[in-house]
Amino acid sequence: MNKFSDLIRKQDAVKDRSILSLFDNGNRGADFSAQAGDILFDFSKTNIDFDAMNALLALIETSDVAARRDAMFAGDKINETEGRAVLHTALRNVDGGAVMMDGKDVMPAILETLKRMGDFADKIRAGTITDVVNIGIGGSDLGPAMVVQALSPYHDGPRCHFVSNVDGAHIADTLRGLDAKTTLVIVASKTFTTIETMTNARTARAWMLDHGGDPARQFVALSTAQEKTDDFGIDPSQVFGFEDWVGGRYSVWGPIGLSLMIAIGPRAFHAFLRGAQSMDRHFCAAAPHENMPMLLALVGIWHNQICGYATRAVLPYDQRLGQLPDYLQQLEMESNGKSTQMDGTTAPFNTGPVVWGAPGTNGQHAFYQLIHQGTRVIPCEFMIAANGHEPELAHHHKLLIANCLAQSEALMRGRSLQEASQMMAAKGLTGAELDRQARHRVFPGNRPSTTLSYPWLDPFTLGQIIALYEHRVFVEGVILGINSYDQWGVELGKELATSLQPIVEGSEPAVGKDGSTMALLDFIAKHAD
Ligand code: F6P
Repeated sequence: MNKFSDLIRKQDAVKDRSILSLFDNGNRGADFSAQAGDILFDFSKTNIDFDAMNALLALIETSDVAARRDAMFAGDKINETEGRAVLHTALRNVDGGAVMMDGKDVMPAILETLKRMGDFADKIRAGTITDVVNIGIGGSDLGPAMVVQALSPYHDGPRCHFVSNVDGAHIADTLRGLDAKTTLVIVASKTFTTIETMTNARTARAWMLDHGGDPARQFVALSTAQEKTDDFGIDPSQVFGFEDWVGGRYSVWGPIGLSLMIAIGPRAFHAFLRGAQSMDRHFCAAAPHENMPMLLALVGIWHNQICGYATRAVLPYDQRLGQLPDYLQQLEMESNGKSTQMDGTTAPFNTGPVVWGAPGTNGQHAFYQLIHQGTRVIPCEFMIAANGHEPELAHHHKLLIANCLAQSEALMRGRSLQEASQMMAAKGLTGAELDRQARHRVFPGNRPSTTLSYPWLDPFTLGQIIALYEHRVFVEGVILGINSYDQWGVELGKELATSLQPIVEGSEPAVGKDGSTMALLDFIAKHAD
């Protein structure tokens, strides 16, 4: 018995029912969708009915989601394993009131940093810098890289590049062809200790010195750790700080978003923040049955914990959201990929799902085969704008929309053996061969999907969408009893890499390692130059 047992029983009773048949009565499209501002979330192509919905909504009550949400916005230290508040929402509270943390209003410092960022971005945009290289990893890379690509139609500043991997190929390929005299390097690291980022930052500095650039003028740091940025030699006037109550994967709204601000300008960046702020307001004010982040979370819980589908595909029909699946992968998997609940007990159910995806229509020609006919059910989360940014190519966008809607319809509708047999008969096949060929053309259908639609991917809308997913992850985490804001699971690998480094370099003997690691070290040593 666990908190999902009742829902699992309900689901079991209806699991073979046709989703399509749920549209026979009433107005399911409207009843199983929600709107927040201009964004529509349609979850009618799922097997959730009113009974299931009420039971899911009850989870919001029984899990105290509203109280946890209010505690988060109020600056309580809800990240209990790190003893920290969770206040990335304050970074976008651009025209809101005070936000108190430990009895102090955090807004003046946030607004001052935002103003400094704006002045700096304006200076860079008006100056001689042609290229910006953001060096960071995880949240210090995925967020800014994703939003810069997403908002490329608004990009009127210097070119932006992103280096994350410690693999020297990444920085070498990025710096090749850049002019060190007109390149700005942004070292983005909350902790300023991350080995990949610090290694790349030192390499970039050496490159700049070797090629006539001036790191004192052309290096910027985004970090919570000013002593460490000082040690690295970055002038405090070129450091944009934030507090430890902003989690790395939630940090794009503040200094970590500097590359975006330089790319699109402070005014458009403010629109991005205002979009997120409007989603925050919706999340705090809307009743659960109309609350988009809560509904998105409940659909996630339904598919993952209730139906047992282990993965979730994010499928933006928006080429510029090409990096959103990677971004959401960190947001969701680093936040809710945990086994220990807040009270220290082991979760008696599966927790966060595997998140993956790629933009449509590309994915259609790669992995949709499995989504349609494979043995596993994969809930699909489609996204589509009503308009593209290329009016002269409107026919492309109409095709994109048609494909997006066709996929969710095909997943739900499927194709029966009878329909497939008729198709084969029309081609002149008969008997056993008709039957054999028809079976390959059957689509089981009844595969669930949701669709998020919005008029236009502008800065405001992108802000809304990211904040929507952040809150979705939070609500899922609360229901799962998980602290979504720590990430202890990344520590062990980092520790072992540190202990392996001198062994790989040959300055220490390999002792205490398992047989597989020893054999791999041996093979690599034999084949290294
Ligand atoms: O992978 C762990 C992690 O701490 C992420 O949570 C974070 O986004 C990333 O590393 C980068 O950290 P930092 O910004 O401190 O360099």
